[in-house]
Amino acid sequence: MKLLSLFALAAGMLSAQSIQYSDSRKVFLLTTRDSSYAMGVAADGALRHLYWGAPLWRIDDLAAPQTRRDLSSFDPRQMLENEEYPGWGGPRYYEPALKITRADGDRDLVLRYVSHRINGNDLEISLRDLRDPIEVTLHYRVYPEHGILRRSATIRNATAAPLTVESAQAAAWYLPPGEGYRLTYVSGRWAAEDQIQREPIREGAKVLESRKLHTSHNFNPWFAIDAGGPSEDHGPVWFGALAWSGNWRITVEQTPYRQVRVTGGFNTFDFAYPLAPGESLETPEFYAGFSADGFGGMSRALHRFEREEILPGGATARLRPVLYNSWEATTFNVDEPGQRALAEKAAKLGVELFVMDDGWFGARDNDRAGLGDWTVNPRKFPHGLKPLIDRVNALGMDFGLWVEPEMVNANSDLYRRHPDWVIHFDGRPRSELRNQMILNLARPDVRDYIFGVLDKLATEYNIRYFKWDMNRSVSEPGWPEAGPANERKLWVDYVRNLYDVIDRLRAKHPKLEIESCSGGGGRVDLGILRRVDEVWTSDNTEAFDRLRIQEGFSMSYAPRIMSAWVTDVPNMNGRSVPLAYRFLVAMQGALGIGANLNHWSEQDTALAARMVALYKRIRATVQAGDLYRLASPRDGDLTANQYVAPDGRQAVLFAFRHSQQYNTAVPAIRLRGLDEKALYRVEAPLGKLQDHQTEFSGAWLMRAGLNLDLRGDYDAAAIVLERL
Ligand code: GLA
Repeated sequence: MKLLSLFALAAGMLSAQSIQYSDSRKVFLLTTRDSSYAMGVAADGALRHLYWGAPLWRIDDLAAPQTRRDLSSFDPRQMLENEEYPGWGGPRYYEPALKITRADGDRDLVLRYVSHRINGNDLEISLRDLRDPIEVTLHYRVYPEHGILRRSATIRNATAAPLTVESAQAAAWYLPPGEGYRLTYVSGRWAAEDQIQREPIREGAKVLESRKLHTSHNFNPWFAIDAGGPSEDHGPVWFGALAWSGNWRITVEQTPYRQVRVTGGFNTFDFAYPLAPGESLETPEFYAGFSADGFGGMSRALHRFEREEILPGGATARLRPVLYNSWEATTFNVDEPGQRALAEKAAKLGVELFVMDDGWFGARDNDRAGLGDWTVNPRKFPHGLKPLIDRVNALGMDFGLWVEPEMVNANSDLYRRHPDWVIHFDGRPRSELRNQMILNLARPDVRDYIFGVLDKLATEYNIRYFKWDMNRSVSEPGWPEAGPANERKLWVDYVRNLYDVIDRLRAKHPKLEIESCSGGGGRVDLGILRRVDEVWTSDNTEAFDRLRIQEGFSMSYAPRIMSAWVTDVPNMNGRSVPLAYRFLVAMQGALGIGANLNHWSEQDTALAARMVALYKRIRATVQAGDLYRLASPRDGDLTANQYVAPDGRQAVLFAFRHSQQYNTAVPAIRLRGLDEKALYRVEAPLGKLQDHQTEFSGAWLMRAGLNLDLRGDYDAAAIVLERL
């Protein structure tokens, strides 16, 4: 009792003061609900990392960083001292946080502590080169309730001569010294995003990155590191996610000195950012945290953080509506009667947002023409979009529209007018991918044009939602008009202007919502998520494939962000899975329907209406609740995910069986996150519950578990639990 209240007192003190500084020891202690982070100023003025892990409360436990001894002339002390934000200078051979070249060719940069400022949950630390006024401000924001720390840096050239930044990382993170760590990340490609990879960290560096000018399908800017052996539920996990939608890089490095370090920020590949005297460069933001509760604890912390601190509208944002999108049904063959007919059918299912996809504008009958010409195609919509939108609204649905504003086809009026607006090198080929080129959004005129196009659409029409697509990666990343010294600013300025256009658009049209799509999940990161409401997870809507894609996605991103459609079968892989299975897979995120409703039977339609109604009953739990991954599709033929409402009154279990063999039953599924003392009413809207009883204690459900009768191939169940 005494101990408990002492602890409560300590915790209370900490929540009042998330950032502490000890002047006598020259150490900083940053503390959240789940973690602490410490650093200190060494005798030589270097700012050094001291601690990252489970919470501490006593700053006097920390000693000022000691100066180490060189191990040998090949192993200088600098390599043993974990500098918080190391410049590339002196005897340092690991990945630096900052590398510059001065106008005279001098490239040595050694950063020393100058001063700091604490303001509530914000800490700013000023560093400076030991000779020149090359200034770095390190920004730290502590989110005490979320267990998250945000870091970034501003690099300022206060010298009288220009310099070029060649590497600017948001942060360097240090794990507790040791070996035996494992790295978890996601990799993939178009239509196969978010495949979970887990591997031992050994000496050397592992690079996760994009060189594509968008976040990319190949890697996502997120990492998790464990100390070997944690599970979904237990064990320490250090994790981080970078907020940048362009060329990014995360380097995970194990040094020869038993030290794992992670650096992340702008990709250094082809990077060169000139800073004239007085100019500065801000790095992306890098969010990180520590969870003692395994990968599940990590995901739940990130999900809640995203819902409350990252996504537009925060905790007050409306739940994601049920959406219909006609792309897979009609592809480019959109017109007013066709879309109207689909809208009537969608409304009957309970759809709340009707989205018209590609094909409505310019000469867009296929992917060879029209991008860039954002005027309504008069053949397909002789009276503009208003009659369709009015009908959609009259049916009780909001209207959404597909756009791909950064792109242009060679066969378009825009390209004929402004061939110089695309990203290119003079006199070199302009590689087309999907027959399109990328407008150079780094240019202010292009930025303003794109804003103008979207602003006009949003002003003229009652558009609630843009599906903002980006269907290719960059090539020949030239910007000849900028001149050789400034040309590579494109990597940064393109992304900043993208953010700027979205921010201005949202400010001017506060009810407008945006989905980020890049041929599926090619632009998903905490940078774009600050300004969009959901993302198109993958162009792969095949339900069985989706289980893995969605599992990987859920590692770092909240279910409400994850747009998931029910589409027709056979789909990719030629596989046909039952409609109920397809619905249950998609109901684990922001539910959408992308099927050709004209082809659905009466039974399909009736089942779909039931499933949409069920989804609406549980969506607050799915979209705002805690996710427990109970069984992974990577481990066997059972996949199970459970969602628990924030107030604990409802929980939902989704279970999928891939293919039964040897007539085996699925093992009892033990639930998590319930109140062991409470009673729950258990309901199986689609059947499959073996237990005949309908009331169970939380203790039983979590310890003995539920028995489901999942048989054959592609069987699925949803179980709804209401606390009594
Ligand atoms: C991309 C998107 C699809 C669809 C098409 C339209 O591939 O990911 O969902 O919008 O473009 O051309």
